[in-house]
Amino acid sequence: MTISLEQLQRCTVAVDMGASRTRVYLRDIGLVVDEATAAAVNTRTGAIVAVGNQVEQMAGRTPDHIRVVRPVGAGGITDIEMAQRLLRQLVDHRVRRAWRFHPNLRAAACVPHESEPLVQRAVIDTLASLGARKVLLVDTLIAAGVGCGLPVEEAEGMMIVVCGAAMTQIAVLSMGSVVAAEKVMAGGAAVHRALAAHLRNRHELVVPAQHVRQVHRELSLALADEGAHQASVRGWDAVTGEVREVRVDAADAQAAADMPMLAVLDGIRAVLRRCPPDLVADVGVRGIVLAGGNATMPGFQTMLQRSVQLPVTVGERPDIASILGLGSLMDNRPVTACAAGLPEDERASRKAKRLSRRARRELAREEPESANREDASPVG
Ligand SMILES: Nc1ncnc2c1ncn2[C@@H]1O[C@H](COP(=O)(O)OP(=O)(O)OP(=O)(O)O)[C@@H](O)[C@H]1O
Ligand SMILES: [Mg+2]
Repeated sequence: MTISLEQLQRCTVAVDMGASRTRVYLRDIGLVVDEATAAAVNTRTGAIVAVGNQVEQMAGRTPDHIRVVRPVGAGGITDIEMAQRLLRQLVDHRVRRAWRFHPNLRAAACVPHESEPLVQRAVIDTLASLGARKVLLVDTLIAAGVGCGLPVEEAEGMMIVVCGAAMTQIAVLSMGSVVAAEKVMAGGAAVHRALAAHLRNRHELVVPAQHVRQVHRELSLALADEGAHQASVRGWDAVTGEVREVRVDAADAQAAADMPMLAVLDGIRAVLRRCPPDLVADVGVRGIVLAGGNATMPGFQTMLQRSVQLPVTVGERPDIASILGLGSLMDNRPVTACAAGLPEDERASRKAKRLSRRARRELAREEPESANREDASPVG
């Protein structure tokens, strides 16, 4: 996967379709889509009734004929047709129109490190269906490194851990390449499943899937608070189905939630073992940088720091680091500028340019008519 910066700078759109979130970045504009990778489908008609964040709120509340579909799984797109339909609905109709009439639309997309050819094909086909004539695939690890502000081009070892929903990727980067990498098939989704299972098994309490993240946050706050080791959690009794509130031991619950992520520790050690000593020494100085939505998982940074005895920092915008990195390569401007979007005056000047282009087009359309009119007064 060797792509030159020049090729990337000819792209107009960047896409990161993850198991949990889909992000779309438009050249010179910024992030235009950051929504859940989910669609609600009417199984009787096959029609999509809702997409994105709206679907997250529907999960668990839909009638039998409405099914929530997630077309991206661990490692990549699993349902190409649904991914195409979802992406088409997520991007604004004006953007879609612009893409359709763009004769040479080029797109860039993040893909996991060493992803299967089938996974890569699925990404290319999905974007081609939206009008992309050429699709460049960029390693998520490099994109996230750039998105976290790491000097990935330098001859220096730096460790990045991209903590996604379905997968956690670990790598040491140097000179714009991945020196050694590992994938752990556990992420935010596994953490939520582990916590939900703990509450059910230990406390016979069922917590709706969309509330588990909030419960995790509250438990970790209780744990951080020296005085309180317990927190109240509301849910349904697993046996009677009645609403009930139980006092949960925060340390126990945190240990259960941490369990799936323990494999990340082995991954970090395996990557360091495979790196030349000079790069390991660099990592020792800079430490580990975390990216991905699950980087902010309560207690994760502390758990890593304590276990690997290295400094661990979380990137500035970890959840959108990969797409911002890709956007900054595409736009050839610093990540901070991409994250902020366009300044007001630049946006105004672009709007003025667009309007003047439209005015010129309209004048050109009117000219032949006015030239034919006998009473047309000469200009100037
Ligand atoms: N605002 C948020 N909305 C949803 N999930 C969030 C949010 N903040 C953090 N998360 C956590 O981050 C995870 C999603 O991270 P991210 O967006 O990096 O995943 P992804 O790119 O969709 O997945 P993958 O890279 O594994 O395909 C969720 O599992 C959740 O635990
Ligand atoms: Mg991701």
